[in-house]
Amino acid sequence: MPSLVVVGAQWGDEGKGKIVHLLGKNSDVIVRYQGGNNAGHTVVFDGKHFILHLIPSGILEPGKKGVIANGVVVDPAALKEEVAFLETRKIKVKGRLTVSTLAHVILPYHKYLDTIRETGDKSGVIGTTRKGIGPAYSDKVGRTGIRVVDFLEKPVFEELLDQNLTEKEPLLSRVKPISEIRKEIMATYDELRAFLAEYAADTSVQLAKAFESNKRVLFESAQGTMLDVDFGTFPYVTSSNPIAGGACNGSGVGPRHIDEVLGVIKAYTTRVGEGPFPTELFDETGVQLQTVGQEVGATTGRQRRCGWFDAVAVRHAVRVNGISKFALTKLDVLNGVKTIKICVAYDVDGKRVTDFPASRTAQAKAKPIYKNYKGFTGDLRSFKSYAKFPAEARAFVKALEDAIGAKCALVSMGKSRDETLVLDKKFSWLK
Ligand code: GDP
Ligand code: IMO
Ligand code: MG
Repeated sequence: MPSLVVVGAQWGDEGKGKIVHLLGKNSDVIVRYQGGNNAGHTVVFDGKHFILHLIPSGILEPGKKGVIANGVVVDPAALKEEVAFLETRKIKVKGRLTVSTLAHVILPYHKYLDTIRETGDKSGVIGTTRKGIGPAYSDKVGRTGIRVVDFLEKPVFEELLDQNLTEKEPLLSRVKPISEIRKEIMATYDELRAFLAEYAADTSVQLAKAFESNKRVLFESAQGTMLDVDFGTFPYVTSSNPIAGGACNGSGVGPRHIDEVLGVIKAYTTRVGEGPFPTELFDETGVQLQTVGQEVGATTGRQRRCGWFDAVAVRHAVRVNGISKFALTKLDVLNGVKTIKICVAYDVDGKRVTDFPASRTAQAKAKPIYKNYKGFTGDLRSFKSYAKFPAEARAFVKALEDAIGAKCALVSMGKSRDETLVLDKKFSWLK
């Protein structure tokens, strides 16, 4: 019953799509367990380029099964579009993808509510993707949400839709009358219901059967630990639990079925949207990371904020996820940077802080305390083995391992699957 959870250890966009696709080769089932189409996971192979939002990246590997589990919030229209997009690119999805009947659906009013919040009073602005994620999860926890199983039963759906629209009318009427929103939803409802019915399944039962028959199950997290609703930089977070523990409640799998957790870690830090970012750079090095790293949001096209590697935040991620091994991505982007910095602690009001602080005031005030490392030069892709890497690059990787307390199992030095080196030959997933 081998299983592995792949989690982002920073603020998202660590390169999870690339790593999951690589590991997908040795997996039978790939599961998304939280988030929705706020995710943008880039996969590049054989000269092809894909960005996946809702469907697990492993679907790009022929023959593998994809699962959108109960913890995900599913926009039926966005899912239909993504399936159509993949099918035009000759990736067959039907018969390989299942969607949990327990997952909650995102409807147009969730997107309106997201946008109302984002365009209102500045103090409430999070910088969301405006895909309706937060409002859909609010409805789930508030027990007014509509699950896939409810969406599929027309009388139940219509009753719940009316309840929701009436409840939300005071806000929604700022956009348009709820009668119009209802009409808009019902215009595509029959088509979307017929579409979703073909994918809906009890995915917890499906996963139990997969474990029984010794299939290899890979869990693909979206977002990152610092965007986790419990452990991230609240309130500047997403509304779900990307952390490894989220894989259990987000897919209906017991903790004893989780064997390993792999963190995906970028060699520097990026963040999209508002919120504290202690190592953010506003100088030419920040611009260099942004341009060389092509740090542009895969979902919203927004420029990502860039900064040095933050070992305080990643140590926090190592702890809350139980990461022992990690995949290091985008090391190539640091090529030519003269001095590379790792933030090892924060200075908060003159005190040295080494555990990520919970207080928003402390997070906003935190000044990074850096250790400096000599940079390296050379196209890392030209080195055929890790031993041949520039000594400075290896010293930096070792420094990262020491600073966060986990071991580097894979090094990624380019977008494509081939541009990866395996450091830990015992990393079972690649066997
Ligand atoms: P995800 O959301 O964690 O899947 O990450 P994104 O796909 O949003 O962002 C990662 C970006 O970095 C994508 O454009 C990837 O193609 C790219 N990428 C991934 N690994 C590497 C790497 O090692 N080097 C470089 N230069 N780019 C990479
Ligand atoms: P992947 O899976 C980076 C950020 C948004 C915003 C906050 C809340 O590609 O790593 P939301 O729409 O979720 O309510 O927005 O979370 N965010 C991401 N940032 N990568 C992502 O996904 C993100 N998904 C959400 O920018 O700050
Ligand atoms: Mg992304």
